[in-house]
Amino acid sequence: MLIEKDKWLQYGILRHEPSLAVRLPETQLLEKNTLTKMLLQYQSVVLKPRDGSYGRDIVFIRRNDAKAYRIQNENNTVTMRDTDQLLEWLEQTNKSDGYIVQKLLQLAQIKHRPFDIRIMVQRKKGPSSTWNVTGSYAKVAARGYQVTNVNNRPIPVLKALKLARIGDRRLLVKAEQVARLAAIRLGEHYPMLRQVGFDIAVDKKRRIWIIEGNYQPDLRPFRLMKDSSMHRRILWYKKN
Ligand SMILES: Nc1ncnc2c1ncn2[C@@H]1O[C@H](COP(=O)(O)OP(=O)(O)O)[C@@H](O)[C@H]1O
Ligand SMILES: [Mg+2]
Repeated sequence: MLIEKDKWLQYGILRHEPSLAVRLPETQLLEKNTLTKMLLQYQSVVLKPRDGSYGRDIVFIRRNDAKAYRIQNENNTVTMRDTDQLLEWLEQTNKSDGYIVQKLLQLAQIKHRPFDIRIMVQRKKGPSSTWNVTGSYAKVAARGYQVTNVNNRPIPVLKALKLARIGDRRLLVKAEQVARLAAIRLGEHYPMLRQVGFDIAVDKKRRIWIIEGNYQPDLRPFRLMKDSSMHRRILWYKKN
């Protein structure tokens, strides 16, 4: 079973539940006026393809002073002198089709490197099965990057929270609860859905945010963890 990968559609489904709505960074379909409006409200925003993955084609925009904007993607940065020039850039890049614009979160950091958390939530076959957290790890951004990835080896969440001096087991439990609630909501919408790998952010104020849920999450990072119990549990849930 394949569920369409669409960050905008998913945002709509999750936002429906009030306890989840407060965990979602404000998101709009990217258009000239939504971008303008968001940049009036927030100093930084992120543009993401609705069907993206692996951090591909993500663009960060930061308002410098009253007028200028710095646009940054994987390997380059350009500056737009004012809103008109920014909107011209938007038109030229063709990004308005199939992109979302989202408030930028101030991710907690480990030695100046932002990190976020992957939380795996699964349910067994059968109509009355409940959603359970079966694994988690933290992804740390490469030096100088804003997008986290696991090429730098996944680390246990508790270790990441400790290194960032941001929290302990209680914070992880809270993040797991948020992920479970989000899985329940998605499961209502997609009765055949049995696994979601959530990207969960902890910001500098220790607030927990849902970045996205992946329906076909990469399991390799779990195989790379020293503790193999999560990986085994995940495979067991997939079978049962
Ligand atoms: N609103 C945001 N604020 C801060 N960082 C973000 C935001 N959205 C995404 N990121 C960073 O970019 C990464 C990739 O974003 P995500 O929405 O998961 O897209 P992808 O489908 O490419 O994985 C996240 O794991 C996070 O590190
Ligand atoms: Mg992701």
